[in-house]
Amino acid sequence: MHNHDVIVVGAGGAGLRAAIAAQQEGADVAIVSKLHPVRSHTGAAEGGINAALREGDSWSNHAYDTMKGSDYLGDAPAIETLAQDSPEEVIQLENWGMAFSRDDDGRVSQRPFGGLSFPRTTYAGAETGHQLLHTMYEQLVKRGIQVYDEWHVLDLVVTDEPAPEERTCHGVVGYDVQSGTIEGFQARDGVILATGGLGQVYDHTTNAVANTGDGVAMAYRAGTPIEDMEFIQFHPTTLPSTGVLITEGVRGEGGILYNSEGERFMYERGYANNDGELASRDVVSRAELTEVNEGRGIGDEYVHLDMRHLGEDRIVDRLENIIHLSNDFEGVNPVEQPMPVKPGQHYAMGGVETDENGQTCIEGLYAAGECACASVHGSNRLGGNALPELIVFGARAGHHAAGRDLKQAEIPTGKEGEWEPGELIYPVEPGELDHSGGDAIADGGHTATAPVMSPTELIKGAVESARSHVDALLSNPDGQNHAEIRSDVQQSMTQHVNVFREEDGLKTALKQINSARKEYQSVGVADQSRTFNTDLLHTIETRNIIDLAEAITLGALGRKEFRGAHWRKEHQERKDQNWLKHTMLSWNGGSPELWYKPAVLEGESKTYEPKVRSYWANGCRHILLLSIVGFPFNKLEVDPPSSRSQLCWRAGGGNRWTCYIH
Ligand code: FUM
Repeated sequence: MHNHDVIVVGAGGAGLRAAIAAQQEGADVAIVSKLHPVRSHTGAAEGGINAALREGDSWSNHAYDTMKGSDYLGDAPAIETLAQDSPEEVIQLENWGMAFSRDDDGRVSQRPFGGLSFPRTTYAGAETGHQLLHTMYEQLVKRGIQVYDEWHVLDLVVTDEPAPEERTCHGVVGYDVQSGTIEGFQARDGVILATGGLGQVYDHTTNAVANTGDGVAMAYRAGTPIEDMEFIQFHPTTLPSTGVLITEGVRGEGGILYNSEGERFMYERGYANNDGELASRDVVSRAELTEVNEGRGIGDEYVHLDMRHLGEDRIVDRLENIIHLSNDFEGVNPVEQPMPVKPGQHYAMGGVETDENGQTCIEGLYAAGECACASVHGSNRLGGNALPELIVFGARAGHHAAGRDLKQAEIPTGKEGEWEPGELIYPVEPGELDHSGGDAIADGGHTATAPVMSPTELIKGAVESARSHVDALLSNPDGQNHAEIRSDVQQSMTQHVNVFREEDGLKTALKQINSARKEYQSVGVADQSRTFNTDLLHTIETRNIIDLAEAITLGALGRKEFRGAHWRKEHQERKDQNWLKHTMLSWNGGSPELWYKPAVLEGESKTYEPKVRSYWANGCRHILLLSIVGFPFNKLEVDPPSSRSQLCWRAGGGNRWTCYIH
């Protein structure tokens, strides 16, 4: 058995930052990851990192934009923590040598991104994630932090007291991809999940094949509630044939979207009259699909993103990577032709419920990055807010797990705060659900049998249980192949739980997921090898995909309103009176329990008042002119709050402001 103070599961941006932070506190920390660190999906992040670094910007403006982008479902303490800590984390990266793009005067460049009131997205060309990952990996090597790479974590080892809030996490069980051996890892102070996204739940995604939501699924089965799973972000510009991301930075630099009729539809069809292509992602994705559905798509599938007018020099300087991606994956040279783009799954706003220090309701279990839900993004994440989330909350989780006294968290976890029960809608009979299939390891993630067992005994038991599970899968070479089950779930999710959702489709998806679950009971692994057995590993991951697909769909069916990325045909309004609350799901022995807890809108010095979310801000200029010439507006408010002179100056500078007229 391996022993460390802190075990970090996953080696992307959040995992690396957490490990460095824990090591800075003097902890003996190790990373266990199914990928080598520099192969982590953070490396695919293109656009940038939001941080209020310049004069004229402030953390409170960043927090405001993020809350508005979240459609008022983010929790203010998490949002404000993100906005406050991000500048320091970016400066830390710069000091560690990250190759940020720079202005002529030497300052780190910042560009506009969707939904931002100030151009605050720092970047390294269109390969920001790659630079970030390598910069932190250098720190890892320099500090001698141990990495168990190509060790796939199969399970968390958690005690099994009846209430999750009474349980403790003591470690993990890992499978060595190179040799097939299964061993235990004991964590004396804490386990930090940093396993990234779950994009493989869908069949058109920007996410890597490795993004199967392992950490979220394991934590869910171990008893940690998962939060706001229905909120899935569909990025408006992905390449149609592969799902490869074309950064929002293209639109940030001035790229334009056109339909088959050559219309700049974001304006000409009135989707976002003034922010146009740089409206929030949910708005742009819906606009694109509406164009396609109404017959103005190209090839009935996509729209065009044109950046030719930027000129080759600027494109090469700021977006060179995009030339390669478009050429390699679509055969289109974007310096000469518009690129085909369509919405694709990109990010999960929900995840393992944590507070602002990354702590879950289970003692010793933390989560950070995309697998966690603090909640910073609420129902819609702003572009450029994922990378700061990794470094800010990765660092906090690492420091906290290693014993640093951070500010007392304000976000309650588990059922320790206010909550209310929800009504779970299942289109199948309860008797048909059978989540566990009698499979011991599949039914809890935790394998403890009695709270009196020592952590070492618990881990040994969990290792034995995992070995039996893997043996059982390998002993059934003629069983059902996981790939067909996975593909059915992915297609169903893409068809029914996508940008546009309606009740019948959601119910159909749940039935299809339930069939997949039944088929999975007879899954088997044809490849009998113990070395690099991807058939076995993908079979194990498919279980996670099924559990998370179900959680997303249950949450979507339960939420009877339209908020952020969650559009419902039958419910076309945001309903603040009933729905300013987070969707929570607890595994409960395989019969998910749905409950809700209120969003926390009280910030450090103000309460965020939900407002209509609109992206027509450049109209400020016109409204401003009207107000200057004396038009008798009843009351004119500007977001973020600003003086008329600031507004004049900023509007002239091309920044985005939103006016509310009462
Ligand atoms: O478009 C992008 O470059 C993606 C950025 C993000 O998701 O934050």
